Amino acid sequence: MKLRHFLSLVDLSPGELKALLERAIALKQLRQQGETYMPCTGKTLAMIFEKSSTRTRVSFETGMAQLGGHALFLSPRDTQLGRGESIEDTARVISRMVDMVMIRTFSHDTLKHFAAASRVPVINGLSDDHHPCQLLADLMTATEHWGGLEGRKVAYIGDGANNMAHSWMEAARIFNFSLRIGSPAKYSPSAEMLATGGEYVTVLHDPFAAAEGADLIVTDVWTSMGQEQEAEQRRTILQDFQVNHALMAAAAPGALFMHCLPAHRGEEVSADVIDGPLSVVWEEAENRLHAQKALMEFLFGIGPVAALQGAL
Ligand code: CP
Ligand code: NVA
Repeated sequence: MKLRHFLSLVDLSPGELKALLERAIALKQLRQQGETYMPCTGKTLAMIFEKSSTRTRVSFETGMAQLGGHALFLSPRDTQLGRGESIEDTARVISRMVDMVMIRTFSHDTLKHFAAASRVPVINGLSDDHHPCQLLADLMTATEHWGGLEGRKVAYIGDGANNMAHSWMEAARIFNFSLRIGSPAKYSPSAEMLATGGEYVTVLHDPFAAAEGADLIVTDVWTSMGQEQEAEQRRTILQDFQVNHALMAAAAPGALFMHCLPAHRGEEVSADVIDGPLSVVWEEAENRLHAQKALMEFLFGIGPVAALQGAL
């Protein structure tokens, strides 16, 4: 199989993504039935974390173990990356030893530079611009509930200019659903990012208008990693964009709530919504594991989705 990377959702074809979500659901069932599936014996995933993580680290490390392989946690604090070794040299060296690399970093260019110098597949475990692995889990969760998001209305409320908002915009075009971003002008998507969603995405500065009639309400933290010095200003500007009972009431009856986590109750979401019956955040978090197992299997060229490559 030709070398493939997963830096954003568009690196896979719509057909591959849909097949991957079905495969993730099948792998979840296999796990629930207590069956072992270890096609990656002897393979190593290097995980480079330049930012903190709970879900991404645990899901990749556990997923790799469940597939029979090994995962290696690397941080700039303990590697030569933190002492100025270039990203390209790091990629050349690591990719001669391991079989796949996952990177969580700041600039999306770091990922591109790493991938360009790598001999093995590179996965984006979150950059300032995109969080495609989270979208795999979110789309998988929507598939479990509704069979998919096609034709549905999704509202993303809050910081419309962060990695999650960007990945949701890409998803809207690929999966053919309408996405309304409800965000203040200061934290609305750039024209360049907005273009990735095309006619599927609308930006509104009134959160209630954005939420109106939506089947799914999504939010994310107001202050992303790397923006900590702006936290106070963001709390002020985003204060009317909290997902709470009143906002959920504007959505369609029975509308679901998603959040990639970590959450800040009382900021971007109220406790009654995230801890309420329409919240699917724990399923979303668990689905990181299953979706990324399907992704790694595919990028290794193993399993049913990889076998269909070219036809999808
Ligand atoms: N949602 C997510 O990526 O969580 P972590 O930052 O804990 O990995
Ligand atoms: N937008 C958030 C997502 C965390 C998973 C951040 O980048 O910090």
